[in-house]
Amino acid sequence: MKWLCVVSMLSGLAFGPVFAQESSATQGIYAQERDAFVSNLMKQMTLEEKIGQLRLISVGPDNPKEAIREGISKGQIGAIFNTVTRQDIRVMQDQAMQLSRLKIPLFFAYDVVHGQRTVFPISLGLAASFDLEAIALSGRVSAQEASDDGLNMTFSPMVDITRDPRWGRVSEGFGEDTWLVSKIAKVMVDAYQNGDPSKPGSVMASVKHFALYGAVEGGRDYNTVDMSPLRMHQDYLPPYKAAVDAGSGGVMVSLNSINGVPATANPWLLKDLLRDQWGFKGITISDHGAIKELIKHGVAQDARDAVRLAITSGVDMSMSDEYYDQYLPGLVKEGLVAESEIDRACRDVLNTKYDMGLFKDPYNHLGPVGSDPQDTNAESRLHRAEARVIARKTMVLLKNDKQTLPLQKQGTIALIGPMADSQRDIMGSWSAAGVVKQSVTVREGLQNAVKDKASILYAKGANITQDKSIVDYLNEYETAVAFDTRPPQQMIDEAVKIAKQADVVVAVVGEAQGMAHEASSRADITIPQSQRDLIAALKATGKPLVLVLMNGRPLALSWESEQADAMLETWYSGTEGGNAIADVLFGDYNPSGKLPMTFPRSVGQIPIYYNHLNTGRPFGKENPGKYTSRYFDSPNGPLYPFGYGLSYSQFALSDFKLSSPEMARDGKITASVMLKNTGKYNGATVVQLYVQDVTASVSRPIKELRNFKKVTLHAGQEQRVELPITEDDLKFYNASLKWGAEPGKFNVFVGLDSDNLQQQSFTLK
Ligand code: BGC
Repeated sequence: MKWLCVVSMLSGLAFGPVFAQESSATQGIYAQERDAFVSNLMKQMTLEEKIGQLRLISVGPDNPKEAIREGISKGQIGAIFNTVTRQDIRVMQDQAMQLSRLKIPLFFAYDVVHGQRTVFPISLGLAASFDLEAIALSGRVSAQEASDDGLNMTFSPMVDITRDPRWGRVSEGFGEDTWLVSKIAKVMVDAYQNGDPSKPGSVMASVKHFALYGAVEGGRDYNTVDMSPLRMHQDYLPPYKAAVDAGSGGVMVSLNSINGVPATANPWLLKDLLRDQWGFKGITISDHGAIKELIKHGVAQDARDAVRLAITSGVDMSMSDEYYDQYLPGLVKEGLVAESEIDRACRDVLNTKYDMGLFKDPYNHLGPVGSDPQDTNAESRLHRAEARVIARKTMVLLKNDKQTLPLQKQGTIALIGPMADSQRDIMGSWSAAGVVKQSVTVREGLQNAVKDKASILYAKGANITQDKSIVDYLNEYETAVAFDTRPPQQMIDEAVKIAKQADVVVAVVGEAQGMAHEASSRADITIPQSQRDLIAALKATGKPLVLVLMNGRPLALSWESEQADAMLETWYSGTEGGNAIADVLFGDYNPSGKLPMTFPRSVGQIPIYYNHLNTGRPFGKENPGKYTSRYFDSPNGPLYPFGYGLSYSQFALSDFKLSSPEMARDGKITASVMLKNTGKYNGATVVQLYVQDVTASVSRPIKELRNFKKVTLHAGQEQRVELPITEDDLKFYNASLKWGAEPGKFNVFVGLDSDNLQQQSFTLK
C-alpha cells in the first residue's frame, strides 16, 4: 500500500490563486508575452487555418484515423478528444508538428470526471465525503494519470446544481447545495491544474455544463430550462463562477436552452456574463452536436445558420465539428460573420495552447520517444491505495437498527444481489479509461476481508430489472448489464436457500450504472421490482438484512428502509469499491459520509431540496393545518435530508453559542459547539452550520449551509468545534440582482444533518 504517497500528493497541491488569474505583475508580463506570440502566429495564418483551430475532433466511424491525419496535416483540426493513450496521441502530435504548414500543436482532451485509469467514486459520492482534501486528492490523481496518458484537458468538473433525481446526470455532479458545490468546483480546478496546467502531472479543467443544465424540466435530459434571474444568480450560477475564478481554462457550453435561448446561441450567457462580467479569458467549447441542434431548438434555419449563431454568440470551439469548417469561410466572405469573431475565437484557442505549454514543448505530457508505457493498463499505473481511502469516506450509513453493522468476520454471510459481483457497475458511468476487469467487486472485497475467517455464500438472486426493453436500452452501445434468463423465482429460491444458511444477509441492490448517466432519466426512482421481490423474500427468512445500495441518484427508498435492518449508500465507488465497502461493512472504517442531495420519499415530492423558501403558509409542527403548503397524501419532509448520515458511533452536540449577538459590517462572529463521541467506536462526523436571513428585501431560504467541519474523535472524546461566519456568508442577490448583505436578524443553526438543528441568533448591524 502506498499510504505515504497519499500524503505527498496532497502536499503538492496549490490551493492559492492559479495561473489564469492575471492579477500579479508576473502574470501581466506573462500575458503580454503570450499576446505577442499569438499575434505573431495569427499574422501568418490563413482564414482556413484559423477556423481549423476551432475544431475539436474525435476519432470514430465518421472520422477514421486516415481522415484525421489528412485534416491535421492541412491545419484543419485544432484539438482531439477521446484518444487516451500516449502512443496514439504521439502519432497525432507528430502529424501536426511534421506535416502541417505552421506546426501548431494539437491539444488532447477527455472526460476525466472521477478518475482516469484509477476510477474513484462518482462525483455525487465524492461530495458525500464532505472532505475537501479527499476530493482534491481524487482530482490530483486523476490529473496525474490523465497527464501521464498524454492528455492536456479534462471536460470536468461538472458543477451543475441538481435538485431533481430523475435526471441521470445528477451522478456526475456534486449535489444540490450551491455553497458546497462552489467549494468543490474550486477544489477540483485547483487539483486538476495545480497552479500550472502545462506541467506534467496537471491538466487544464473545462468546467461544465454552462449553464443551468441541472435544471432541465421534469429531470428529462436535454430538456428546456426556464428560470428566474434571481434563482439563476443565487442558486445555479455560483459554482461555474467559482470554477472560473479558480482559473478553469475551459468552459463547456450546455445543451439546454435558457429562458428560450439555447446556451449555444446565447450571447448574453457567453459574452456578457462569462466574459464581460466574470472576466473569463479561456476557451468556450460547445457540447457534442450542440451547434447542429440549434436547428431542432428552432432558432437556426439550417446548419449554416446554426454556425453563424454559435460563433457570433461566443462558442469558440466546435466539439465533433461537422460544420465550422464547412460554413465559416463562406459566412465570413459574405460578411455574415465578421472576421474578428474568428480571430477572437482562434486567439482564445491559441492562448489556451500557450497556457498548456504546448508551444514550448508539444510533447510536454508525452515525454521523450520510447518513454511510453509498454502496457497502458498496467497495474503499476493505478493508484489503488488512494482510491480505497477516498471511497470509504464517501459511503453514507442510512440506517443501522440493533447495531446490525458492523459485521463480524466470522460465521456465514450470504452475499446476494445483481450488483454484488458486478465489475462494470461499481465503476459508475463516465469511468474514463478505467478498465472494468481491474475493479474490485463487493464479493471480492468481502472475500479479501474475511479470508478464511468466515464463509461467504453468493447468489445473484435477481436481474437488475426483468424489463427486457430497459435492459436493451442499457445495452445499446456496450453489453453492460448481464441478463440471467432463468425464471425470476428460481433465482430468488436459490438466494433464499443460502440466506437461510447464513447468520446475516448482505444484499447489494440498486441501479445499473447506465441508469444514472447521460440520456438516462427515470420517471420512477425506486429500485426495480425484480430486486424488490428479492428483498421481500430475503426479509421473509427473518435473517438480519443489510442493504448495500449502488446507485447514482437519490432513490425513493421508503419501502426498502422498512425491510432493511441496515442500509449503506455506496454510490458507484470505483476501482477499489469492493474493498472500501468491505472496510465499512466490517468496521475497519467507521462510515462518515453525509448526503449531498435530499432523498425523497417518492417521485411526487420532486423537486425537493433542503434550502427552499418558507412560503406564506409553511407546513410544520406548529402549523399542521389544511391550508398550508403540503401534500395530504404524503409526509412533507424527505426520507433522508441533505447532510444526513449515521456512524457506528453516536455523536452529541451541546453548549452551542455565538461569540457575539451582533456582527459589524465586514465583521466576523464564531459559532462554537461541543461535539462528543458518546458511542463506543472511534469515528468522524460532519458538524454543519446553516444560516437564515429572517427578514430581507426578498424571501430567503429557511436555512443555507455556510460552513462545516469534519471532525474525528475517539470513543468518549469531546471537542469544541468552531465555525466562523463572516459578512460574505450573509450576502445574496436582491431583486435588482445586487449582491450584498442586509442588516437585521439572522438565525444560525448547527447540527449533524440539515434537519435536526439547534438554533441561535444574531443581528447584522
Ligand atoms: C456530454 C459532455 C461530454 C461530451 C464529450 C457530451 O455528450 O454532454 O458532458 O463532455 O459529451 O464526451
